[in-house]
Amino acid sequence: MTTLKTDCILQGECAAILDGLPDKSVDVVFADPPYNLQLGGDLLRPNNSRVDGVDDAWDRFADFAEYDAFTTAWLRACHRVLKDTGTLWVIGSYHNIFRVGAQLQDLGFWVLNDVIWRKTNPMPNFRGTRFTNAHETLVWCSKGPDARYTFNYEAMKALNDGLQMRSDWSLPLCTGPERLKNGQGEKVHPTQKPEALLHRVILASSNPGDVILDPFLGSGTTAAVAKRLGRRWIGIERDPDYIAAARERIAAVVPVDDPTLVTTPRKRSEPRIPFGSVVERGLLPPGTVLSDSAGRWSARVRADGTLISADHRGSIHQVGAAVQGAPACNGWTFWHMRAGEDSGRLVPIDLLRQRLRAELAAEGTGTTGQSGGALQ
Ligand SMILES: C[S@@+](CC[C@H](N)C(=O)[O-])C[C@H]1O[C@@H](n2cnc3c(N)ncnc32)[C@H](O)[C@@H]1O
Repeated sequence: MTTLKTDCILQGECAAILDGLPDKSVDVVFADPPYNLQLGGDLLRPNNSRVDGVDDAWDRFADFAEYDAFTTAWLRACHRVLKDTGTLWVIGSYHNIFRVGAQLQDLGFWVLNDVIWRKTNPMPNFRGTRFTNAHETLVWCSKGPDARYTFNYEAMKALNDGLQMRSDWSLPLCTGPERLKNGQGEKVHPTQKPEALLHRVILASSNPGDVILDPFLGSGTTAAVAKRLGRRWIGIERDPDYIAAARERIAAVVPVDDPTLVTTPRKRSEPRIPFGSVVERGLLPPGTVLSDSAGRWSARVRADGTLISADHRGSIHQVGAAVQGAPACNGWTFWHMRAGEDSGRLVPIDLLRQRLRAELAAEGTGTTGQSGGALQ
């Protein structure tokens, strides 16, 4: 059986190289294939300077049939090397993404999302003949409708300031110091993707240690981000110059050394702690006055684990929402208590929940947890 070597670039034709990889060995494929752009002739800006479009040989196909045959070959090979729990991302533009999308479905992939990457700094439509083409599409798929797959929902929500992450992502093109340039100041690769895009893709759909495969590695964006986020990676690329640039780039990346910095615990995996158990344990005795962080509203703790304010009574969440006139509230982070020796500092009561969770975790692992005592 072939073993899987990771953290390396494999040079050659992507379908042939994929054929040499073991079955069901990869957790995530991120593919940025040739788009078959079909740009006819030079495109000039109003000042007559030439637009640096993608006219490279690797992006040219004789016709749609040739492009489709190419797409089927690499997609089929990716389907084989993906684990049953794996997912595949393909990025493309209006030139190719509809053809790729149809093939994904024909090959049995199950579309989970189509994500719009909205470019915050797109290239204008110089001729003024169409709308500015300001987005690209990423299709995200599992191996079938019933496949279990990784989606780090909490990490995505945290990345979006506590709001559920949507399928439209506003991110700039890769410019500035991130853009690889050669000694003459020219772009090393015409379609280098922004690392922010890959950061989101990899954080959303993989865990530290997972294997991320990019069959069209180009300048190495996927590998650089995968390495930084503590994932293993494999890149396939045909062009030796791109490979050299990617190798240098990836070598300079320092991985985050602590896995807890690149994982967000799932809510469901954390034990539920009722506020009542904080009261029962004497961590907040009945009568304790809680307030919001600015001291605008206050409420007293009751022996049954509910709160009572001037006008409301109910759970920490209900009273928190009611005093603000809000539809909902997370009482653990809204309500604060006085902590510290001088009792002058307001800290969220969530710290008590975290302490109880840590105790539970320590019981589970047989290590001694800290219990009781004032919160400093
Ligand atoms: C759209 S670019 C990928 C850019 C990459 N995402 C980045 O951020 O730099 C596609 C890459 O695929 C490579 N390529 C095209 N056809 C290939 C094939 N049949 N096998 C292997 N590599 C191929 C090209 O050389 C090019 O670097």
